[in-house]
This record gives sequence, structure tokens and C-alpha cells, in this order.
Amino acid sequence: MATVLAIETSCDETSVAIVKNRKICSSIIASQIPVHQQYGGVVPEVASRQHLETINEAISLALEQAELGWGEINGIAATCAPGLVGALLVGLTAAKTLSIVHQKPFLGIHHLEGHIYATYLSEPTLEPPFLSLLVSGGHTSLIYVKDCGMYESLGETRDDAAGEAFDKVARLLALGYPGGPIIDQLAQQGNPQAFTLPEGKVSLPHGGYHPYDASFSGLKTAVLRLVQQSEKQGKSLKVEDVAASFQETVARSLTKRAITCALDYGLSTITVGGGVAANSGLRRNLQAAAATHNLRVLFPPLKLCTDNAAMIGCAAADHLNRGHTSSLTLGVQSRLPLSQVMELYDNHS
Ligand code: KG4
Ligand code: ZN
Repeated sequence: MATVLAIETSCDETSVAIVKNRKICSSIIASQIPVHQQYGGVVPEVASRQHLETINEAISLALEQAELGWGEINGIAATCAPGLVGALLVGLTAAKTLSIVHQKPFLGIHHLEGHIYATYLSEPTLEPPFLSLLVSGGHTSLIYVKDCGMYESLGETRDDAAGEAFDKVARLLALGYPGGPIIDQLAQQGNPQAFTLPEGKVSLPHGGYHPYDASFSGLKTAVLRLVQQSEKQGKSLKVEDVAASFQETVARSLTKRAITCALDYGLSTITVGGGVAANSGLRRNLQAAAATHNLRVLFPPLKLCTDNAAMIGCAAADHLNRGHTSSLTLGVQSRLPLSQVMELYDNHS
């Protein structure tokens, strides 16, 4: 039964949580979104500085709210990859320092493994194997989850991540940042059938399409053309209809790929993680398709979908229970395939 203090600073959320196996004892999330909004996106240097200013207070608050002392903490973890290097460094350095001062094992955690583990927090009886659809601002992947630390990527996006597509389309519609929640809100009042947009199929060299890979850059360009055309013709475009049609296309594309993949691999459970898991269109589409195919689909609650340290703590507790710990010389990495997670630990079999 491991109790872990975990830190997540890979992007624009400073988060610290204390997790006992699959149970959250405390979770502090300080979002930087209002700071980055004025720039229309995340500014890496600003993110690092904000993390630095917030991290110590977040650590104190997490301990205070969990009503735990250092004596009851078995390990200290932080996200070490992938993400913004300067931002990751703040959390990783804080975790290493705490590990030295309080003489606790240290663990570096892969951010996407954290997104997979978010579902364990809301569904503690879940066990692998299952398929995980990871849809965030930086990633869109279909992961075959075999066991703790054992992941195989079956599908990826060939260009933009799903969240990135939401953010870029929101920017070209001049809606603000981050785009996902704004488009989701507007789509509620729009007609998803108003415009036919390309789903973005990835061609195979010998004909046909890749069944699990996605591509969203063509879809984004199609929305741009729609806007440009209507401007040229002096027609006003109903932004709610554009938002609804775009969202529906993304949701349909992700749903089709996840369902096909789960059926092909004989996996009866699909979990969803990452910021785009909060999307109402994706939730509706995937739930409906899963029901017709007798598959179980699990979405964590919204606050566990977007970046948070509780999911990092949950992954760390599982690794620690298996005796996996990281060296204090472990560095941060802007990119790291999920298949290489076990390289973060010294003492694994
Ligand atoms: O997982 P996350 O918090 O950070 C990354 O690891 O990237 O995901 C952030 C992404 C952003 O692109 C944001 O626009 C998107 O998730 N997002 C959404 C929604 N809420 C957040 N996308 C679509 N619909 C939403 N409701
Ligand atoms: Zn994330």
C-alpha cells in the first residue's frame, strides 16, 4: 500500500497530490490558463516561472489537506516526460529535493502513463488488459495497456493532436484559448450536420486506409477554407454550426478508430484520458457506439481528464508497489515513447 506525493508541471497546470494506491488523499491544481490566455497559447518561459512561484505552496497545501505528515509518505514522484522542458524541470527538481531531504524513494513518471492511470482513480477495480484512447493537447494515441509499464501504441495522429485541432480551430474562429471547452460549449447550440467536413483518413502505401491512425490537419484547413469562402462571399457564418460540425467530425473519427481497434484486439474495455476526454461530443459518440458493440467505455470525471498530479501519483504508487524507483540522475525529456516507460526505473526485472 504505497502513499505517494506527486507533482505535475509538464505544461500549464501546477499540481500536487497525495495518493494512496488508487485513492486521492488530496489534490491541488493551480491552473495557469488565465496567465497564458492573453498570449493566445502557452508561453513556455512564462509557464516555468509560474510553476516556480506556485510549487512550494501547492506542496504545503497538499500535505495539509491530506492531513498527513512526511512519516506517512512512502515515495515522491514527478512527471519527467514528455512536456515543456523548463516546466518539467521545476516539478522534477522539487521532487528530487524532497526525496533527498525526507529520504524517500524518487520516481519519474511518464505523463501519458498518468493519463491512463486517471481511470483507476475513478474505477479502482479496473484491471488490464484494456484499450486506452489518449486525447490531449499534445497527443492522440490508442494504447494497448497490458500491465503496469507495459504499453503498445496501436494508433497515433499523423499530424495535429485532437486537442491541438480544437485549439487551432478556435483560434481561426477568433474564439480564444483553450479552444476545446469553448468549441464544446458553442457546439451545444449548433447543427452538427450543417457542414460536411473531411474526417482525415491516413492512406496506406498499397491502398486503403490505416484503421487506427488519425489526421486532423486537413480538417483544420477545411474549416479555414469555410471561413475564408464565407468572408469572400460576404456571408456570415454561424459559428455554432461550424463548432458543432467540427466537433462531430473529430468525435466520429476518434470513435470509429477506437471501436475498430478494440474489436480487432479483442479488448472489451476502452478508457479515455487527456483533456479532450472532457468533450461532450466524444463522450456521446463513443458511449453510443460502445453500447452497440457491447464494449465498456470509461471516462474519468472532468477534473481527472485534464492535467493533474493525482493521476501521476496513482501511476507512481503502482510502480513503487512493484519496487520500481528512479535514479536521482534522471533528467527531463520533451519526448519519450510510452513503450520506453520502464527505462525510467533502475531496479526492474
Ligand atoms: O490533457 P490536457 O489538460 O493537457 C495536455 O496534456 O495537453 O489537455 C489539454 C487539451 C487542450 O487542447 C484543450 O483545448 C482540450 O484539452 N480540451 C478539450 C475540452 N476540454 C479541454 N477539447 C475538447 N472539448 C473539451 N471539453
Ligand atoms: Zn496531459
